[in-house]
Amino acid sequence: MDLFLDTASVQEVRQGAETGLISGVTTNPSLALKAGGDYNDVLKEICSIVKGPVSAETVSLDADGMVKEGVAFSKIAKNIVVKVPMTVEGMKACQRLTRKDIKVNVTLCFSPNQALLAAKSGAFIVSPFVGRLDDIGEVGMNLIKDIRLIYNNYKFTTQILVASIRNPIHVLEAAKIGADIATMPYSVFEQLFKHSLTDVGIKRFLEDWEKVLKRK
Ligand code: E4P
Repeated sequence: MDLFLDTASVQEVRQGAETGLISGVTTNPSLALKAGGDYNDVLKEICSIVKGPVSAETVSLDADGMVKEGVAFSKIAKNIVVKVPMTVEGMKACQRLTRKDIKVNVTLCFSPNQALLAAKSGAFIVSPFVGRLDDIGEVGMNLIKDIRLIYNNYKFTTQILVASIRNPIHVLEAAKIGADIATMPYSVFEQLFKHSLTDVGIKRFLEDWEKVLKRK
């Protein structure tokens, strides 16, 4: 399972890339607002740091507008993936952009049927939002299980990108189900490295090594 950062912060992308474990980035208007700066400039810089897919989100509500925005985004860098929302217009735009060889990430997916439509529209990536489903009392991970089953049944190649991740358990569950990608805030990525017994273990080994050195 590939690990992406869900951020528009160039600094976080740089830190993530330095670990050698991050293979893509997802952004959205809310993350762009949080990060500040010109969205296109930020995307360009992120694309120069990360070689894998970098999602840039359109804001038009009609297919023509989404296609226009998508074509413009695609000129920023080769690894740009255009995000369109799961709507009728979004699916029209997805098909048109795909025909132009522009990769599409269908975002705001909250049901298995929506994911089916995204795959049938040729989406490169579908983004089911698990955290926002959990927030309203549903079990977000059930959506990932259903999409995995449907995509396997029909051999759809659309990649399942688990989005709206809130904690390391979401990452674990995504991997167990067999999702293709998990995108997460930098804070969750940092948590993946940590275990209290690792810290205790390092401390104990260092203390014992000091004793070994003193013995000489
Ligand atoms: C990813 O592509 C989404 O934009 C993101 O994961 C949404 O996360 P949120 O529900 O925490 O805003």
